[in-house]
Amino acid sequence: MLVLFLLLAVTAAAVVDVDVTEPACPSCVLMNTTCYNISYLFDLNAPFRKQVVIHRMGILRSQNKLFFSFEPTIEDVEYYKTGFVSLDDPSQAGVISGSQIFNFGAFDIDQDNDLVYFGGDGGIFILNANSNSIAAYSSLGDTVTNLYYKNHVYFVRYNDRGIIEKVGDNFRTLMENFPIRKFVVTKKDNVVIFSSTLGLFVGKGENVHRISKNGYFRGITIDLDGNVYAWWIDGIYKVVLMKNLQHSKLVRVAKIPFIGAMTFDNDNRILFTSDKSLYLMEPTANSCGVVKVIEDRA
Ligand SMILES: *[C@@H]1O[C@H](CO)[C@@H](O)[C@H](O)[C@H]1NC(C)=O
Ligand SMILES: *[C@@H]1O[C@H](CO)[C@@H](O)[C@H](O)[C@H]1NC(C)=O
Repeated sequence: MLVLFLLLAVTAAAVVDVDVTEPACPSCVLMNTTCYNISYLFDLNAPFRKQVVIHRMGILRSQNKLFFSFEPTIEDVEYYKTGFVSLDDPSQAGVISGSQIFNFGAFDIDQDNDLVYFGGDGGIFILNANSNSIAAYSSLGDTVTNLYYKNHVYFVRYNDRGIIEKVGDNFRTLMENFPIRKFVVTKKDNVVIFSSTLGLFVGKGENVHRISKNGYFRGITIDLDGNVYAWWIDGIYKVVLMKNLQHSKLVRVAKIPFIGAMTFDNDNRILFTSDKSLYLMEPTANSCGVVKVIEDRA
């Protein structure tokens, strides 16, 4: 039932209709102007370290399978591992392992061909998700700390500067003056969004612009519509890209004080971890307890 209160301001002659009937939603959070409901899905199951650290999540869309890289128990000779779980049936889960020490902490997915690229101590490896076989791919002998896939592989090496783009048998370095932590490349315009010790940047060619001085963003991800988000311990930030990159900016769109890793599911809803728990964040008709000014005829 909708009850409208008419509030007559004494000084100004403003008439404001306010909807106050909405039930409280303790699990809701406002993201920019949309209210999202957060619900718990399940716990990720892997040999986590005492303090759970999950660096990255990504979904193999054809199988609705979530991959996540994490830091395993201190006794493990590897310091990074990648696990996976079916979002349709969480009992189908496991950890990528082999006879070698891979230290697979970086990965990304070629969705068109069901291939998962992994970066680690021994270079870049490739998992065929249909045959479940892993093979060596490139840069064997390099330590690959980050990897991104868009038409081809982009990667970052330990103690190196720039992002290496592998086009066929050729390699080209982007953002070559910057030590790179995390990065993505936009689908349409090839804009690189990256974090380094000096902050968060947007760049294309020689044109690089800093949008934040915070060098500690935990990750950067792109939703199914091409919107770019970064997250830090205190919430979700949207990278607002402008045609003139110098006008691009970073806006915090949601305050969530416990995000570990984040990605978007096949319906473009937000999935995030807190400790080892996986949560779903989806838009709701609830107004998030914000008093909605329906009309203001001041
Ligand atoms: C927030 O929402 C408003 C209204 O829909 C929109 O104009 C604005 O671009 C949004 N801001 C961000 C950072 O997405
Ligand atoms: C939020 O999600 C929970 C769990 O799925 C559900 O019980 C609740 O009704 C939802 N609330 C809103 C306002 O959508």
